[in-house]
Amino acid sequence: MQMIIGGALGRMGRELTLAAEAAGVGIACGVDVAYTGQPVGYPVVTGFEQVKETADVIVDFSRPEALPELLKLAVDNKIPVVLCATGYTDEEIAMIGEAAKHIPVLRSANMSLGVNVLCELVRMAARTLEGFDIEIVEKHHRMKVDSPSGTALMLYDAAQKEKGPETEPLYGRYGRTQKRTDGEIGIHAVRGGTVTGEHEVGFYGNGEQVVLTHRAENRALFAQGALKAARWLADKPAGLYSMRDVVLAMLG
Ligand SMILES: NC(=O)c1ccc[n+]([C@@H]2O[C@H](COP(=O)([O-])OP(=O)(O)OC[C@H]3O[C@@H](n4cnc5c(N)ncnc54)[C@H](O)[C@@H]3O)[C@@H](O)[C@H]2O)c1
Repeated sequence: MQMIIGGALGRMGRELTLAAEAAGVGIACGVDVAYTGQPVGYPVVTGFEQVKETADVIVDFSRPEALPELLKLAVDNKIPVVLCATGYTDEEIAMIGEAAKHIPVLRSANMSLGVNVLCELVRMAARTLEGFDIEIVEKHHRMKVDSPSGTALMLYDAAQKEKGPETEPLYGRYGRTQKRTDGEIGIHAVRGGTVTGEHEVGFYGNGEQVVLTHRAENRALFAQGALKAARWLADKPAGLYSMRDVVLAMLG
């Protein structure tokens, strides 16, 4: 498999380069606005419109601003795309949906296989543990600016899909003067030190608890997940996919 990497010189681009080399996946070309000519072991250009090489898949860890040129390259050359960047606007998400009519596109704000399996476990628990209260706690390093994390919201969505429309998120409980309601799912953010990322979904019942936890230990896991997604996507028909499709395909 030959791959084009978007954001090749960034933290995740470099992780993906290492993961690809270890897995024997070829890198046809890298794209990064910050490229200044230093050798990186494969050709790098500063914009998707400059890519001359062809490939089996494009994996992007750059920024939403790169999207129009990235999708043009992919659609014009019929190259499947794995979109890993976060922060797309509604307009950009519509653009992605349009491209997916012509080529296979997989987009996920969390490429970790473990987190996506956790989402499935949360669905199963929410479906079967009737009457249990659900609480989500996420922990991240002190530099993280947004809260709650996008992954905490993804886990909330997984539970909410099973519990139904009366469910609502409750962010912290500061100032509350009433008992917990059945429909609420508490979401809590802890910030400190160098924690890479931890997500815990607790199901609290009458005399028993089930607590599902995912701990990210480094960023390499996102690169591993992106490679898995790229391999899975390469022979799929046009359409919009997510990491959930990869997990469900593994379940058979
Ligand atoms: N889906 C996931 O699991 C996952 C995991 C980690 C990070 N991310 C996302 O991936 C993106 C990159 O994260 P990072 O930590 O590697 O960031 P980073 O800032 O270290 O790297 C981004 C790279 O993209 C380059 N870039 C920026 N704009 C570009 C453009 N228009 N065209 C080409 N290159 C461009 C930058 O020069 C930089 O080298 C972010 O959106 C981040 O939120 C997603």
